[in-house]
Amino acid sequence: MKYNVPRGTKDILPGETPLWQKLEAACRKVFAIYNYQEIRTPVFEMTELFARSIGNTTDIVKKEMYTFEDRKGRSLTLRPEETAPVVRACLENSLIGPDQITKLYYIGPMFRYERPQAGRQRQFHQAGVEVFGSGDSLVDVEVIQMNMKLFEDIGLTDLEVDINSVGCKDCQPVFRKALKDYFKNNVKKMCEDCKDRFDKNPLRILDCKEKGCQSYINKAPASVDYLCPECKSHFDAVISRLNDAKLNYKINKRLVRGLDYYTKTTFEIICSKLGAQNAVSGGGRYDTLVQEFGGKATPAVGFAIGIERVIEVLKTGSPNFRKSEQGISLFIATLGGEAKKIGFDLLTKARNKGIPADMDYLGKSLKAQMKAADRTGAKYVYIIGEDEINKKSGILKEMKSGNQKEVPFNSLEEEV
Ligand code: HAM
Repeated sequence: MKYNVPRGTKDILPGETPLWQKLEAACRKVFAIYNYQEIRTPVFEMTELFARSIGNTTDIVKKEMYTFEDRKGRSLTLRPEETAPVVRACLENSLIGPDQITKLYYIGPMFRYERPQAGRQRQFHQAGVEVFGSGDSLVDVEVIQMNMKLFEDIGLTDLEVDINSVGCKDCQPVFRKALKDYFKNNVKKMCEDCKDRFDKNPLRILDCKEKGCQSYINKAPASVDYLCPECKSHFDAVISRLNDAKLNYKINKRLVRGLDYYTKTTFEIICSKLGAQNAVSGGGRYDTLVQEFGGKATPAVGFAIGIERVIEVLKTGSPNFRKSEQGISLFIATLGGEAKKIGFDLLTKARNKGIPADMDYLGKSLKAQMKAADRTGAKYVYIIGEDEINKKSGILKEMKSGNQKEVPFNSLEEEV
């Protein structure tokens, strides 16, 4: 029997993990510079948490969740995103409070039952941030700026920030009515899902991917034209502060996010080096979610980047971000049982000093051990045979130059 990785998932193999580690390190570095702290939550939550926050009429909740019952009949779901779990964790652990800003970040796997294609998987990874406690437009600018700083640091180019506003609980009903008025004449000609969305949540029609619906959607009213005075002035402030911060952006009235919790600002960062799935990051404000989860009214904003998509671009050769040189410093090659014992002791000593080192455990010939050392990228090989045991001194060979010299057992670490 041969087993394969489940559809829509991927192994991240040793050839690629150095790039992942570098990207994760770059995230942690930038997030720390902006004063964000890490949070880790379980990969599954009560299903209700996602249904309520992301929205019952969204594709994610309707079609894409990995939902299962545990042995006690509780409905659980593998997290399709991390904003709702972070809000839950903050409330449960009193991490958010009045007159307090809480800035958190996370890196980890998410799960959505989508049709797999380039840039779209069923298990994928996000690095994201959430800020709680301030409705200041400068925080919207901070998260966009931080996101762009991260992309700049790792050398990601060909980017565009698309920005929009979806309004708040006051202006969304006005916009919803405008959408209903507009779509009521066309909805009969649109897909079955859109007919359902028309009744339940006309905003979701804008997120429809069906080709036949696009000509109607393209001419639909846009949320930015229906903002209440407060949302309008917030949006204007974000735009003017993006200008002050010299951040390039495009106002995209057609930008629709696939999650219902957003209020006011929404944004996506698009990379033109990618194919159809070209959003490398997405986020926005969600000023009502904390309250909906039973907390005090707390404004919030955040984003999440899609790690696989960023890695895809980096693999094509970003100048700041080439594949790291891997390799150990020392390989110990031994001939015979006694040499092996001594070699293992020396190996342990070198490792205890923090020197990356290894030896042969397959009983290979010296020639084969030299080859193995070369494959691991070892800088030095230390050879111990019978003569060397007697002299308590081995031969240290520098692989690049081929130079070699005698080095006593007890000064190997210093020499390396
Ligand atoms: P999202 O737009 O659903 O937002 O996902 C964010 C990013 O995750 C996307 O831009 C994309 O790069 C990546 N992504 C999403 N689905 C997949 C997939 N199936 N395969 C590969 N990559 C994918 C959220 O998840 C929000 N929680 C972001 C947020 C945080 N909003 C406020 N705070």
